[in-house]
Amino acid sequence: MVGLGPRRQPSRKGSMADVPKDLLREIRHLEELFTIDTAKLKAITEHFVSELTKGLTEEGGSIPMNPTWCMGFPNGYETGTFLALDMGGTNLRVCEVILPEEKGEFDIIQSKYRMPEELKTGTADELWGYIADCLQQFIEYHHEGEELDQLPLGFTFSYPASQDYIDHGVLQRWTKGFDIDGVEGKDVVPPFEEALKERGVPIRLTALINDTTGTLIASAYTDTEVKIGCIFGTGCNAAYMENCGSIPKLAHMNLPPDTLMAINCEWGAFDNEHVILPRTPYDVVIDKESPRPGQQAFEKMIAGLYLGELFRLVLVDLHDNKEIHIFEGQDIGTLRKPYSLDASFLSAVEDDPFENLSETHDLLASKLSLRATKPELELCRRLAELIGTRAARLSACGVAAICKKKDYKTAHVGADGSVFNKYPHFKARGAQALREIFDWEPKKGGKSARDPVEIVAAEDGSGVGAALIAALTIKRVQEGQLAGIKNADAMLKGTKAEKKPEEQV
Ligand code: GLC
Repeated sequence: MVGLGPRRQPSRKGSMADVPKDLLREIRHLEELFTIDTAKLKAITEHFVSELTKGLTEEGGSIPMNPTWCMGFPNGYETGTFLALDMGGTNLRVCEVILPEEKGEFDIIQSKYRMPEELKTGTADELWGYIADCLQQFIEYHHEGEELDQLPLGFTFSYPASQDYIDHGVLQRWTKGFDIDGVEGKDVVPPFEEALKERGVPIRLTALINDTTGTLIASAYTDTEVKIGCIFGTGCNAAYMENCGSIPKLAHMNLPPDTLMAINCEWGAFDNEHVILPRTPYDVVIDKESPRPGQQAFEKMIAGLYLGELFRLVLVDLHDNKEIHIFEGQDIGTLRKPYSLDASFLSAVEDDPFENLSETHDLLASKLSLRATKPELELCRRLAELIGTRAARLSACGVAAICKKKDYKTAHVGADGSVFNKYPHFKARGAQALREIFDWEPKKGGKSARDPVEIVAAEDGSGVGAALIAALTIKRVQEGQLAGIKNADAMLKGTKAEKKPEEQV
């Protein structure tokens, strides 16, 4: 079928022969709703390029295109000991990263702490207090009884923050289902530092970074072909290096035009004004019922947080409103609960290796107390494929748009996140979409042949990437390059970097 990308692997034939006509009609309708053909991919990509450019102007557009003050790539010879903190949706991760003398090497120790669900909708004080407690625990555990210098910290805060300085950031709005009062529109660093100070934790925040920027830098540390960092996880976003001369909104800083600046695109906001993305009625519901309607239009069609919910909304609609009434006569109470299915549910449906879809059958029974007929199982499988394929193909539009904007003929794109790493066929479907967008000839040389732009598994952005950005920042401050640094003395104060080289043991 044109434009659907690679079909599922031939583990099963997936015959629709025994699917009754009316159910088949619904399946065909869903295919129309969720399929994005080559022409549409190209149109979305073109519009994306102009929106990326617009986001860099003084007036701005819907994509924030946040300058990060991470200026340039690592050369592989960064050294030192750094802390890295990652405030994700499910976990809080604290790492100590050692960058040794050897090029491109690193050592890492880490601890994970659960992010209690209540924190995501609690108060700002609770959030910062909890994070500071975890950092304190980490340091007490790993450095018991030691006399410590202030440890430089790279803090991965994976939400849109506008940054006048690398060690500060004003949260533009919560994304990914977070909804904590009193943080939006404010600098997140002072209350965080306050919580550390109250507890006497010896940490100096050196860089506030986005997960995409961390991914870009960590991946470029080990693979110099990497030009873009992407996250396809609970949220969806990318970062790349722009020349300061192409960032009109930074013109007042008079930075050399060739100097590089990592841009955290926050591309989840692409098409918030709904001019190009082919939204289905289900996408409209997701948006309306979300904590921030009208925001993150692109992300809501792609990210892991929403894939299961899309699937759920379609099934409820087919039960309630369509003539076919799937799961007829059954209690769909569990299915009615918003966000009761996550992307791993869809992954499992797509991964079901059996011709009779018995794993899908059992999953529906155990998770939702539903007994599905064989045709209903075929519908579930097709629906999961459609939602997963659409997500991968739309993601490729963003990657292609950055390549077109920068005129990259070849590139590696470092990608991370649960959807990229775990969702079946996501990589292959994304690669297929890139081939369609760029009209690449079919690969000669079989499997080993490479596409000019390849999305590859990233290095650890919020650990190694955050440490590298802290290292690059300290180096820059020591060299007197102070663009985007609020207070150079304060940044180094009490850390090893403040001491003369001979004292730095
Ligand atoms: C959301 C956040 C963004 C982050 C992405 C991936 O889009 O707004 O900052 O990079 O999720 O985690």
